[in-house]
Amino acid sequence: MKIGFLKPEQPNSGAYVVGVLDERKFMPAAAALDKKTAGVLTRAMGASRFKGRKDEFLELLQPRGLSVGRVLLAGLGKPEQLDALRLQALGGNLVAQLNRAGETVATIAVETIAGAPLSASEMAAQIAYGARLRAWRFDKYRTREKDDQKPSLKGLNFHVTDVATARKAFAPLDRVADAVATTREVVSEPPNVLYPETFAERCKRLSAFGVKVEILDEKQLAKLGMGALIGVAQGSIRPPRVVVMQWNGAAKAKDKRPVVFCGKGVTFDTGGISIKPAAGMEDMKWDMAGAGAVLGAIEALAARRARVNAVGVIGLVENMPDGNAQRPSDIVKSMSGRTIEVLNTDAEGRLVLADVCWYAQDRFKPKAMIDLATLTGAVIIALGTEYAGMFANNEELATRLLAASAATGEKLWRLPLGDAYDRSIDSDAADVKNIAGDRGAGSTIGAVFIQRFVNDVPWAHLDIAGVAWSKKDAPTCPKGATAFGVRLLDRLVADHYEEPAP
Ligand code: BES
Ligand code: MN
Ligand code: ZN
Repeated sequence: MKIGFLKPEQPNSGAYVVGVLDERKFMPAAAALDKKTAGVLTRAMGASRFKGRKDEFLELLQPRGLSVGRVLLAGLGKPEQLDALRLQALGGNLVAQLNRAGETVATIAVETIAGAPLSASEMAAQIAYGARLRAWRFDKYRTREKDDQKPSLKGLNFHVTDVATARKAFAPLDRVADAVATTREVVSEPPNVLYPETFAERCKRLSAFGVKVEILDEKQLAKLGMGALIGVAQGSIRPPRVVVMQWNGAAKAKDKRPVVFCGKGVTFDTGGISIKPAAGMEDMKWDMAGAGAVLGAIEALAARRARVNAVGVIGLVENMPDGNAQRPSDIVKSMSGRTIEVLNTDAEGRLVLADVCWYAQDRFKPKAMIDLATLTGAVIIALGTEYAGMFANNEELATRLLAASAATGEKLWRLPLGDAYDRSIDSDAADVKNIAGDRGAGSTIGAVFIQRFVNDVPWAHLDIAGVAWSKKDAPTCPKGATAFGVRLLDRLVADHYEEPAP
């Protein structure tokens, strides 16, 4: 879908989208159309329930006296509530509406609104961003789709008086939308196509943005002593990989320590010998969504040339149950030197992150470290698909993440860590065991396990099992992979870790 920003003039074809505020207050473009048509818009509103509230649309086909084929009244709601998230949702809803209608191009009039928090140019950029996020689609494996099954919308033109400012505001958002698309794509790929080696290969594309990409193979991982990660991978014919992606956007900063993102990248999770039931196992193709989000976050930062040093480290394995698979009761040695009793081979994400997080903190001495993982079904029991669970050993980092969460709409809810939980993973046979004795507080148990491998750096763990994949359409995300975490981490960095502009 092509996005353009142009000076206002009345379009002659396609759809023309004009705004109406709450209580049926026309924006100037709408008022002008109403005047030109001797009241067609007013009469149409009167014959409908359209009030100009948020999420409302009213469509007029072939309105007499106009050359455009379609006028779409877009409800804007109350001016003071038109923040970035509301505008992104509007852009997304607009794309869905225009595709339903079979429209190919649309012109959107964006005008200054008294009492609204953003300028017209900024509003246009946010609407365009939301439109891009919604228009993403994973259709590379659909070979027999008819034209009328494909999305019709090809272009959106935003009419704003200050074109240059709108383009400038949109540029970084456009980059982040690209990064979201990268993440959604890798998360959507089937596990016969995307497995540790091919995922690692995909990461190399970040070098085009100036990211240093290193791929550690099995031999190197063994040499580093990553016995926990290797133990998970050993039941698969696919060898594991760890990918390190370094973006040095603040090479001249006084404090060069990076922010580090770690990701769980289980390209398929059968559960291993502690095998999962068949029903729903297909969902485990997206058990690499944490790693996918880390890839996207580093792309977003590099593509918009963020003035920050940031590193992504992802652990890529496939959890399979073959004759060489690890058994419940196996004891493995992690890179940290700690031994782990593996009592359930389906609690594999924490084993991968034990080595990835240890390696990341040991090598990079991060300012802050955040891991993302589809770690537990228990977080879905606790929070459903609305919020990801957040665990943090550092109040400042937790506060910053919650602020980034509010700003991006990627919702986080903090859950507890604590000594009492930690004691429940003491093992009789090794230093630690990978599950607790009972089924309580399953997500916290996963978190305190990882905490044993972060060596007290400021750290947060995001359990994204409930939010990485959506079974229904949302305004800025079609059903499927959500790329949860990309916008959140990008925003966290923008607000707290970027150097000021020179
Ligand atoms: N990948 C799963 C968690 C998961 C479940 C993600 C549902 C997305 C949707 C993870 O590896 C797992 O199997 N966790 C176990 C842990 C248990 C054995 C302690 C779980 O949640 O059942
Ligand atoms: Mn599992
Ligand atoms: Zn898993």
